[in-house]
Amino acid sequence: MTQMPSNNDWNLSQSYITEDSHLLNAREKSKELGLITIGPGAGALIRFLASTIDASNVVEIGTGTGVSGLCLFRGMNSAGVLTSIDSDAERQRAAREIFSEAGIAANKIRLIAGRAIEVVDKLTDNAYDLMFINGEKLEYETLFEQSLRLLRPGGILIFNNILGEFSTSDAQAISAVSDKIKDDSRLISVMIPSGSGIIAASYRPS
Ligand SMILES: C[S@@+](CC[C@H](N)C(=O)[O-])C[C@H]1O[C@@H](n2cnc3c(N)ncnc32)[C@H](O)[C@@H]1O
Repeated sequence: MTQMPSNNDWNLSQSYITEDSHLLNAREKSKELGLITIGPGAGALIRFLASTIDASNVVEIGTGTGVSGLCLFRGMNSAGVLTSIDSDAERQRAAREIFSEAGIAANKIRLIAGRAIEVVDKLTDNAYDLMFINGEKLEYETLFEQSLRLLRPGGILIFNNILGEFSTSDAQAISAVSDKIKDDSRLISVMIPSGSGIIAASYRPS
């Protein structure tokens, strides 16, 4: 039998990594703009995953004000470039400022304003070490299909915000993509109940 974590255990796990002032500023800006961000526990997890593969080229769907982007940067190698897509240009402007204040050079960030499924379609095949998806749920299945084109073998795919209360259509979209990932023999996947829930998978085509 597995012992379930208590609420205290859960809170400890989600605040285990102390966030610096830049991340806290990015969170504050998100709050001002009424935006939900990745939590500290899941943020630490994506940082960790980026570091395990020494990620250099990362694509993110859902820039927001840069919270998840900063977490990814902290795990990527020093030559790393983050391509981050968001349909909201105001949020991306805020993220650019936050990245700059955090000392991230402008040539390390490629912020693209637009609808994810349209922008992703134009990105290069086999060019990314990690793809982090945290945007519109109804696009998750299309983005999953695209991720297998964009990721290099050994790359990592991450979907955020896959646990919780959703509208019927969002719940169906999440369930469909969860099943597709789990059943794909090219992927080694795991569901992790950190923050609002993550599915991570490593891409191992034969
Ligand atoms: C929940 S927020 C997460 C932001 C960021 N990943 C974080 O954790 O701080 C989702 C972001 O995705 C963006 N978004 C929603 N639908 C999108 C779409 N179809 N294409 C591109 N971006 C989208 C929103 O504008 C928002 O900034």
